[in-house]
Amino acid sequence: MKLIHFTDTHLVEPGSKLYGLDPKARLDAAIQDINRHHADAELAVVTGDLTHWGEVSAYRSFLHSMHGLDVPYVALVGNHDRRGACLEVLSAAPRDAHGFVQGWRDTARGRLLFLDTLDERSHAGQLCERRLAWAARALAEAPAEKPLYLFMHHPPFEVGVHMMDRIALSDRAAFAEVIRSQRGRIRHLFFGHVHRPISGSWMGIPFSTLRGTNHQVWFDLSPLAPHLTSHEPPAYAVVLIGEETVVVHNHDYLDSSPRFPFFKPGVEERAYALGPLPRDTALPTQ
Ligand SMILES: [Fe+2]
Repeated sequence: MKLIHFTDTHLVEPGSKLYGLDPKARLDAAIQDINRHHADAELAVVTGDLTHWGEVSAYRSFLHSMHGLDVPYVALVGNHDRRGACLEVLSAAPRDAHGFVQGWRDTARGRLLFLDTLDERSHAGQLCERRLAWAARALAEAPAEKPLYLFMHHPPFEVGVHMMDRIALSDRAAFAEVIRSQRGRIRHLFFGHVHRPISGSWMGIPFSTLRGTNHQVWFDLSPLAPHLTSHEPPAYAVVLIGEETVVVHNHDYLDSSPRFPFFKPGVEERAYALGPLPRDTALPTQ
């Protein structure tokens, strides 16, 4: 099964830029690339910060772009989103009985569980009692033989980038308790928020996150580091889920560096590899 994970699209009002970049153009470029190479994906999941300021017009702009995606998708909320506006515009945003942007989807490889960590009063994440109770029930009621995959905006732990750790999930201890008894069934945790490519494990659960489609967060582990954004390249992730494997590929879809064959027929291998790049070996970029 193939899934697409992308995150932190940060759309603004149509025609506006954000940190010197056009979020809609960058999202559209991701969608074009996904359509061209991964239209066979079963689902795409966007893990929040769909918009930067939460205006209805920005959600409409997001929706306009996503209409062009040839893969069905689920959209979750992050700290920059507004739940009401999101649910008003996006039918792809799941909704639980309390109006939180939560839900699940069963697939041939197991259950995908989508969580809402938005606290509209803070950039830190929140899982209140109602959301935790919903998550506990969704985990407990999932068919016992089915693996589980979690999707959420905020990481439920610190990643070492000081300014992002200050706005991670605030209810992480309570969430860890909900997860603890089910963690053996959770094959992967996907999240956004940090605008950086990071992978590892938490409580034995493998996780991955990736750069946003607009701006990024600069890598600096010093607690004294200023909070800097950057124009490092945007990415989306292609997730291949097999019987025994979850493989996550990060793809820098705007990369335009040269691509060319490792070998060239008729040219001595060592001379080709060590020599200057022959002009006619470069393949056209997309
Ligand atoms: Fe973000």
